[in-house]
Amino acid sequence: MTRTFFVGGNWKCNSTVKSITELCASWKESTDNGAKYSGKPVEIVIAPPSIYAQTAKDALPANFQVSLQDCYSSTGAFTGEIAADMIVDMGIPWVITGHSERRTIFKETDEVVATKTAYAISKGLSVIACIGELLEEREAGKTLEVNERQLSAIAATVTDWSKVVIAYEPVWAIGTGKVATPEQAQEVHAALRAWLSTNVNPEVAESTRIIYGGSVKPANANELAGQADIDGFLVGGASLKPDFISVIDSYA
Ligand code: G3H
Repeated sequence: MTRTFFVGGNWKCNSTVKSITELCASWKESTDNGAKYSGKPVEIVIAPPSIYAQTAKDALPANFQVSLQDCYSSTGAFTGEIAADMIVDMGIPWVITGHSERRTIFKETDEVVATKTAYAISKGLSVIACIGELLEEREAGKTLEVNERQLSAIAATVTDWSKVVIAYEPVWAIGTGKVATPEQAQEVHAALRAWLSTNVNPEVAESTRIIYGGSVKPANANELAGQADIDGFLVGGASLKPDFISVIDSYA
């Protein structure tokens, strides 16, 4: 089975109306409104800060989809939250769950991430579910243990795997310029796919996209994209730049 290459751009808590307008105009110009990517299918999803979702939706090239960066698992008296129901209502098809910044800064547990993921899927959203180990966990030899624990919590609640992309983002590589080597990333991606095969089923393992995130940029994307189990990227800082288009083209 061929897994369609997937490139996500996570703008985190960055951007202005002006910067979004300019960035999207440059992407449209360099891609003929998104029509040219080496002639191969690629799924492109951009996650702006939620207040700019409509601005981005209006400005992005035609084949770029929009995601939010997080969601809440209920409507009601939850000041400041955005429920998955509302994301669907606004015609936005994707949401990110479990990003390491949600886990570490906002103290989201494996269970919270799993609940949000299941709820988002139940409302019809597709989910980019993030996992990844801290530097001290890698140095303690716990990389696979941590990633499998986080994946296991998510997997326990997933009812429709066609709605899930797994993003492996080693926390020590996020925003640090310290990218995982292609071998380091491939090793974890292969282990995650094997875990899915054993603990969910071989079809889900074969069809689920497992993407890499952590200091991806045009200069390192090609080599990472060449690994057998790397099905795309979740890009932070480099997705705020015009040459993000080169990352999208890296799978050629
Ligand atoms: O969601 C994206 C990741 O956190 C990667 O961020 O590309 O700035 O390292 P980065």
